[in-house]
Amino acid sequence: MIYLERSFVIIKPDGTARRRVSALVLEALLNEGLNIVAFNEMKVPESLAKMHYDVHKEKPFFPWLVDFISSAPVLTMIFEADNAIQKIRDALGATFVQKAAPDALRGKYGIWAGVNIAHASDAPETAAKEIELWKTNGGLEESADAAEKAQSYIAKYSGGDADYTMEIREVVKNAIENRDISDSVLQGLTDLLGKDAEGISTDEVATLAKVIFDFVKEEVEKSE
Ligand code: RTP
Ligand code: MG
Repeated sequence: MIYLERSFVIIKPDGTARRRVSALVLEALLNEGLNIVAFNEMKVPESLAKMHYDVHKEKPFFPWLVDFISSAPVLTMIFEADNAIQKIRDALGATFVQKAAPDALRGKYGIWAGVNIAHASDAPETAAKEIELWKTNGGLEESADAAEKAQSYIAKYSGGDADYTMEIREVVKNAIENRDISDSVLQGLTDLLGKDAEGISTDEVATLAKVIFDFVKEEVEKSE
């Protein structure tokens, strides 16, 4: 018998604010033969972000991670398939964008380091815990029309050629290399992240840009 495993996936703010990129990531995951049983768009409250990343609460990057995931809306979903957890982690690639294979989703669309477009459960026990948490606290609901909702998202946003991944990476890379933490870097990130952000407010785009800028500043400070 095939055991249908479940995985909880978040397209993080850096993915969702780039509408076409998020639609392409969603489409790629569906093309892995995964069945989608829940699909929702939401802004993550700080309290839920803290609970979701509780395993990382002692890590130095925890406060940043909480700010990141709650900066702007995300897409949350449950996928179901034989071996769903590993399939999705393979499709995403390594955690850090620079370490992900160029043809993996994080390698293609991730921005930098942990600004990596998606979260995916890492084991069946974690998946069960996460699904329970997001159903209870994050409005996640299984519904018969999840696949239809996902398909209409893809139909709405996957057209055209909007993909500013390379430009955004370039801004981050140059800033770190040139130790440039001026307002123009933040402005550059804000402009690029706002280019394909239908339905994401100006404030949310600005907050997301600021979180990425904070990461750049930390990298520059580290290299002092
Ligand atoms: P995720 O939980 O988001 O699916 O990612 P993962 O399992 O591949 O990585 P994990 O170790 O669970 O880390 C969770 C998220 O924290 C951010 N991170 N930043 N600055 C850092 O050293 C650092 N390390 C991790 C990333 O956004 C990572 O996805
Ligand atoms: Mg993880």
